[in-house]
Amino acid sequence: MKIAVVGTGHVGLVVGTGLAENGHYVKCMDIDEAKIAMLQAGEMPIYEPGLEELVVRNMEEERLKFTTALDEAVKDVLLIFICVGTPPLPDGGADTSQVFSVVDAIGKAIDGYRIVVNKSTCPVGSTEEIRDRLAESTSQSFDVVVNPEFLRQGSAVDDFMRPDRIVVGCDDVRVEEIMKELYAPFLRTGKPLLLMSIRSAEMAKYAVNAMLATRISFMNEMATLCEAYGADIGEVREGVAADSRIGPAYLFPGIGFGGSCLPKDVVACAKMAEARGLDTHIMKAVSAVNREQQQRFIETILAHYGERIKGKRIAVWGASFKPKTDDLRDGPALHVIDALLEAGAAITVYDPVADRNLAHVYGDRITVVPKNYAALQEADGLVITTEWNEFRRPDYERMGDLMREKVIFDGRNLYTASVLEKAGFRYFSVGRPSV
Ligand code: UGA
Repeated sequence: MKIAVVGTGHVGLVVGTGLAENGHYVKCMDIDEAKIAMLQAGEMPIYEPGLEELVVRNMEEERLKFTTALDEAVKDVLLIFICVGTPPLPDGGADTSQVFSVVDAIGKAIDGYRIVVNKSTCPVGSTEEIRDRLAESTSQSFDVVVNPEFLRQGSAVDDFMRPDRIVVGCDDVRVEEIMKELYAPFLRTGKPLLLMSIRSAEMAKYAVNAMLATRISFMNEMATLCEAYGADIGEVREGVAADSRIGPAYLFPGIGFGGSCLPKDVVACAKMAEARGLDTHIMKAVSAVNREQQQRFIETILAHYGERIKGKRIAVWGASFKPKTDDLRDGPALHVIDALLEAGAAITVYDPVADRNLAHVYGDRITVVPKNYAALQEADGLVITTEWNEFRRPDYERMGDLMREKVIFDGRNLYTASVLEKAGFRYFSVGRPSV
């Protein structure tokens, strides 16, 4: 099939590339000229494992093209995917302005029948508005479908290629058949394509992210209880995860969930409820626990140093909101770094891939180093904010030799307290006894 994908962020780029990899002809469009120039040169604007190889291969095979011209992208295609951001408005609701400006541009550009597939996460009811808006700007016939995306950054290619399910909200049987045909190569393992109403599909997207966030906040709250009662959240998690009614995913406590999706979608859910005069007690609590979790970790660090914090050099391992991505957006690490800078500490950060984005956010207010041990030189403490694999089994002796004060604040529970104690460290983690 011939397909246009509008927006080359994490979702659009992976979706476009994944569809091309399965034999479709895809034109990816973005208004960001610098980004498109990079992609045309075979360079990735984001770090996403496995993506570059697929982009380059599909470009070489002429199944994948990049352009800044929407008219050109939507010419002669059957499907147009909308994959632009819906960041939070100041009041927490979803800002759908990018979606609607794309819709207006599509309306002006199309010269025949198209199926517009919305992948951007929009409040329930938006797809109907998209349909109305499109009808205002074109006399061509079209259908509108919602097809939420569930890929995670860091494992996006794999998630897209091997989805647990595909959700399609659609109200036309012919379009349903086209969507089934489009996704058939992705569902060879028997995973389902779930057809539902447009509103249900829109809600399903929010429900999934809200559920994931709820599990994390629940476990973070349990971690606080564990600390208060001398239990170990790691052991408690095993007890919970082994229950087949619950399962092991998204039960890792830490310093709160971040990124461009979970935090904003939980708040957007609460906003959708408010718009109907309802109250979402759970969503509000999930966000509140998340904020408190980050704050509690920061307070543990500040309490350890007290007045001595001014001028201390604190090393930070990991800056991205999760491993295997260079995305810093709404990452717990940034909250920690901001609070420590504010308290007067000097910060040295090591992250395997986020240097470019760190420089963009902090300029010369922090020191960024290219190696993890280099961050520890003369450090008065180490804060671990992202669980990159390379941090999991460090050389404690080497760390201790480099550091001025042997103290670790581990926001991801990577180490065993007794081992650290033996190596002469003070060790703080989440929901486990400190040593
Ligand atoms: C999330 C969803 O998982 C995807 O299904 C969805 O497609 C995406 O949002 C989106 O809406 O676009 P993502 O933001 O890439 O994906 O990140 P996750 O892997 O879900 O992690 C989110 C945050 O939760 C991270 O800060 C992570 O450290 C934290 N987390 C995750 C925990 O604290 N504990 C866990 O057990 C799991």
